[in-house]
Amino acid sequence: MPAPRVLILNGPNLNLLGTREPEIYGRITLADLEEACRAKAEALGMSATCQQSNHEGELVSWIQQARTEQDGLVINAGAYTHTSVALLDALLACERPVIEVHLSNIFRRESFRHHSYISQAADGVICGLGKTGYLLALEALAQLLKSELDA
Ligand code: DQA
Repeated sequence: MPAPRVLILNGPNLNLLGTREPEIYGRITLADLEEACRAKAEALGMSATCQQSNHEGELVSWIQQARTEQDGLVINAGAYTHTSVALLDALLACERPVIEVHLSNIFRRESFRHHSYISQAADGVICGLGKTGYLLALEALAQLLKSELDA
C-alpha cells in the first residue's frame, strides 16, 4: 500500500521564522521546521509535502488540490486563522483529516488571536509547543489515517 500523503501548510509570515519575533516563535527557520516534519512523517510511514504562502487565495487553491492529492493536512494559517472564512470553507470542502497548529500559545496573547475560524474544520488543534506541535500533529494524523483504514 502506498504511504499516506500529508500536506503541511504554513501561512503568512511563517517564511520569516528564525528572525521574526524570536521571543515568541523561537529561532528555528522554516526550512529546519519543514525538514523535521519530513523526517517525522517518514518515520511514521507517511510522505510529507511542505508549502508556505503569504497569499490567502494560494492557500485556498492548495487546500482544494489536497482534496484529491493528499490524505491529510497540518495547517498553521498564521494570521489568516483569525480572519479567513475562505480558508475555513476550503478546509470544510477538503474532507480530509486536518490538524491546526500554532507555534505560540494563541490564548496567552492578544484577544484577537483567541478566535480561530479554521478550528471548526479541524479534527484537532495544537498550540504553544513550537516545533513539537507540528511533530505531534503528524503523530495524530498518522493515527487518524490508520483508524480510517481500520474502520
Ligand atoms: C501563529 C499565531 C498567529 O496569531 C500569528 O498571526 C502567526 C503565527 C503561530 O504559529 O503561533 O502568524 O499562527
